[in-house]
Amino acid sequence: MIEITVKATTANLGPGFDCMGLALDIENKIFIKESNRKFKDERNLIYHSIKKIYDIAGKKIPGISIDQKIGIPIRQGLGSSAACIAAGCVAGNKLSGADLSTLDLIKIATEIEGHPDNIVPAFLGGYTISSLENGEVIYFRQKAFEGFKYGVMTPDFTLSTAEARKVLPATISYADAVFNIGKSSLMSAAMITGNAELLKAANIDKVHEPYRKHLIPNFDIIKNQANSLGALTTFLSGAGPTIISILKADDNIFERKMSQFLKSIEGGWALIIAEACNNGIECNMITD
Ligand code: HSE
Repeated sequence: MIEITVKATTANLGPGFDCMGLALDIENKIFIKESNRKFKDERNLIYHSIKKIYDIAGKKIPGISIDQKIGIPIRQGLGSSAACIAAGCVAGNKLSGADLSTLDLIKIATEIEGHPDNIVPAFLGGYTISSLENGEVIYFRQKAFEGFKYGVMTPDFTLSTAEARKVLPATISYADAVFNIGKSSLMSAAMITGNAELLKAANIDKVHEPYRKHLIPNFDIIKNQANSLGALTTFLSGAGPTIISILKADDNIFERKMSQFLKSIEGGWALIIAEACNNGIECNMITD
């Protein structure tokens, strides 16, 4: 049996829409083995991704059984679909003997997901910047800065990425594009160097948050409150609805005060403090 460990990921980090990502220490464990029964749900993302690799290898997929220990919330903006796709690609590569490189698998997984920002950190861990051009994924990956921790605020409702992408406009203005290039560049510099002042300066996005925030009641109130309680920056995690604040690692006020605040508003919001994770996806053979 194969055991795969894959992490949650947050994408966009505010202004880095469809490009920036970070792995967090929240994980799924997925157990996959060959079975003599045909897998029931062909739309299952793990199965679909395993099959994709078998197809590429020109082999017929055998019966497969899939079990999971799920830690990554589903449809909450924490990369649960990227985790399933990455796990399926890695498992398919191992089981089929396709022997594809990690970059090949990242490319195939990105094709399934549609954008690389959750996929790359799901494979590699750490902080990542990715760019998709004619189906090729070019990425930068760096160990996450140790001086930050992450306030992960999750409501009691879910939002599908498809739904959250439908509200985005077909075009944006030249001024907004220039504004976001500046902010996302500052965000990258801040994540790489750990410069807290740059993080604060990168706190605004004009490409997706303004269009999505009406899907997340209290988004502005939460963002403003989080920043006033010492968050260095606060953004929609991926397509939402989770909201993440980046905090100084030695912050000892935010968790208590923000948890109290979240209890006082509607939406069933809960806060956990997570660390970044530098481990990429792991695949081990285990005896069952
Ligand atoms: N960059 C993607 C989005 C992440 O914001 O739609 C969600 O999968």
